Amino acid sequence: MKHLVSIRDLDRHSAEELLKLGQEMAQVNERAIKKLPTLRGRTVVNLFYENSTRTRISFEIAATRLSADVINVSADSSSVAKGESLRDTAQTLQALDADCIVIRHTESGAPAQLANMGWISSAIINAGDGTHEHPTQALLDSLTIQQRRGVQLDGLKVLIVGDILHSRVARSNVLLLRLLGADITLAGPETLLPKEFEKLGASVSYNFDDSLGEQPDVVMMLRVQRERMLENFSNSEANYTRDWSLSRTRLQNLSRDCLIMHPGPINRGLEICSEAADDPRSTILQQVKNGVAIRMAVLHRLLAGDS
Ligand code: CP
Repeated sequence: MKHLVSIRDLDRHSAEELLKLGQEMAQVNERAIKKLPTLRGRTVVNLFYENSTRTRISFEIAATRLSADVINVSADSSSVAKGESLRDTAQTLQALDADCIVIRHTESGAPAQLANMGWISSAIINAGDGTHEHPTQALLDSLTIQQRRGVQLDGLKVLIVGDILHSRVARSNVLLLRLLGADITLAGPETLLPKEFEKLGASVSYNFDDSLGEQPDVVMMLRVQRERMLENFSNSEANYTRDWSLSRTRLQNLSRDCLIMHPGPINRGLEICSEAADDPRSTILQQVKNGVAIRMAVLHRLLAGDS
């Protein structure tokens, strides 16, 4: 594995191996001294063209725990703001000895360009590109499910709800969870859930309450991505909350051991009520914690191979 741009870069075996390594890294993170020497002398650059809290910070912690040198570059405080192209920025980072570039970009396909155009030889990790993919989020989500429900995800019923259209998290999760044998249902309003998502191997539902009636093992709520909406969304917020929010009433209808997931950041009161976000069945903060472990595993696999 040279890059991680998409879940499509993985087959079932390599995905399961990464999750196993992620679990080992989670155990390292429970030690008093959370440090491995693996990437001593290597340089990881976090190149972020879009805001982030969880992904950027957990990549920084992950690389630091593996003893790499870490540089954070935010596009709006770099020469990108003066008009420097992606190619020139990447070649500049490589000249500064970047062994790995972790990139988040507003444009779908930007990480694939860096990986495939031959501009640079650094390893590339996709930290979320436009509405395309967020592979490390999907890996940390699967690791979280494994920790709660056991390593085998075959036949697990996963319901992903909300703004599917704009969600790179949904796309990566469908690809990975299908690879691991889970059954996926996508539920959302027609305007935010194109029928073509069925081609990814998921069922599609336009009624949240009907889908909850199927007693899913996991309900994964998605953030309403107002910043990617072409029209003003505020007029329809009340309708959205009525039809698509994990509300108190819907929370009461979930089974006793149903996992409540959300990649964050959450809009409390819009797609999820506070009671659901803070419920003992919620894995939201466990997902954040696993972000460090899974990113340690990915950096280790790309930069240290099997060693
Ligand atoms: N889940 C996620 O990608 O969060 P951030 O945007 O804070 O990185």
